[in-house]
Amino acid sequence: MRKPVENFARDIGPADTEGRLDAPSFHKNKDGLAAEIGRLLGDRSGDVLEIGSGTGQHAVTFAALLPQITFWPSDPVDDHLGSIDAWRRWSGLANVKPATHLDCLEPVWTLGNRELHPQSLEAAIAINVIHIAPWAVAEAMFAGAGKYLRPGGLMIFYGPYKKDGQHISQGNIDFDQALRSRNPAFGIRNLEDLVACGMRNGLQRHEVIEMAANNTLVVFAA
Ligand SMILES: C[S@@+](CC[C@H](N)C(=O)[O-])C[C@H]1O[C@@H](n2cnc3c(N)ncnc32)[C@H](O)[C@@H]1O
Repeated sequence: MRKPVENFARDIGPADTEGRLDAPSFHKNKDGLAAEIGRLLGDRSGDVLEIGSGTGQHAVTFAALLPQITFWPSDPVDDHLGSIDAWRRWSGLANVKPATHLDCLEPVWTLGNRELHPQSLEAAIAINVIHIAPWAVAEAMFAGAGKYLRPGGLMIFYGPYKKDGQHISQGNIDFDQALRSRNPAFGIRNLEDLVACGMRNGLQRHEVIEMAANNTLVVFAA
C-alpha cells in the first residue's frame, strides 16, 4: 500500500475560522514568483493545473493576475483541499475552480469529476513539491505533463535545486539534511536529473530562472 502523503497543514499551524491555511514560505516568495508566472502565462489562455497546491494561496494569487486563465488547484490531502476552497471563496475569483483531489502518482488524472483529456492543458505548475515527496512523484509529474500538456504547453517547477550535483547554498544543505532526516526518500533534487527526466517524457528545458532565497524556477515545454 502506498505511504500516505504528508500533511503540510501540520507544519504550518491551524487554519483560520474560514478554513484558510497560511504558509510562511508563501509570503517570502509570492511577489517574485507571481511576476514570473505572469510573464510566462500572460499571453496564454486555457486550463492550468496546479499540482500540490497545499494552502491554495498561490492559485488565487496567480488567478487574480491572469483572468484569461482557468486555474485548477489540486492536492491529495483533504485538509489542503479545504484550505484551497476557503481561499477560493475568499478571493471571489471565477477563474479558480474548486479544489480537486489529485495524487499525481495515479495513472489517470482527473479534474473535478471529469477525466483530463490528453494534450488539453496549457500548463502545469508544481511549487515546493518534488523535494518534499519521493522522486517517483517528479517522474509521475513528467509522465502526466507529457500526456496532458498541449504541444507547446509548459511544465513549471519551483523550489530549491542542486546544480551539477552540488548545493548552491549552506541554507539548502541544511534544508536537504532536514528533509532527509524526516524521510530518506525526500531531498533537494539535482537540476540535471530533472532535465533528463523531462526529456524522457518528451519535454524540453525551456527556461531556468534563479529566484530569491536560493530557489529556482525550472520551466519545460512540451
Ligand atoms: C510543501 S507543500 C507545498 C504546497 C504549496 N505548493 C506551497 O508552495 O505552499 C507540498 C505539497 O505537495 C503535495 N503532494 C505531495 N505528494 C503529492 C503527490 N503524490 N501528488 C500531488 N501532490 C502531492 C502535498 O500534499 C503538499 O500540499
